[in-house]
Amino acid sequence: MITLKINGQDFSVDVDPATPLLWVIRDYAGLTGTKFGCGIAQCGACTVHLNGNPIRSCITPAQLAVGQEITTIEGIAPGDGALHPVQQAWIDEQVPQCGYCQSGQIMAAAALLEGNPAPSDADIDTAMAGIICRCGTYPRIRKGIKRAALAISASREEAGNG
Ligand code: FES
Ligand code: FES
Repeated sequence: MITLKINGQDFSVDVDPATPLLWVIRDYAGLTGTKFGCGIAQCGACTVHLNGNPIRSCITPAQLAVGQEITTIEGIAPGDGALHPVQQAWIDEQVPQCGYCQSGQIMAAAALLEGNPAPSDADIDTAMAGIICRCGTYPRIRKGIKRAALAISASREEAGNG
């Protein structure tokens, strides 16, 4: 039995500790926003945050996440009915096409902006490298990240002035 904290909530699950975190998230916690793509760390569809850092949950043994803060796409919004700025920017820029890769894209983008609120094109390319979109939404992903960055900096200014 292991206990994982996902989106602030404890889940105790009776699994082999080597079970990929992705399966615990999807099959035991029932949080199916995080997707399975390749299973071998090559596509990024399964990206979640571990203590705020993006990881590929398909190759992360559940045991490694014990005692850590796991955040999935379902837990990224602030919780007061508002969306995360990246989610809002994704809607405003109409980023998704089929949508399959997009929770991984959003999680990677949110982690990027957490550490770098004004990323250059090169920063974006580096942070988002290897998160594959079969629909080729890359130009809109970049626009979405820039839009979210502006929203984050505006809200920080507002908070600073308030
Ligand atoms: S499913 Fe994890 S990287 Fe592809
Ligand atoms: S939106 Fe279809 S794979 Fe990215």
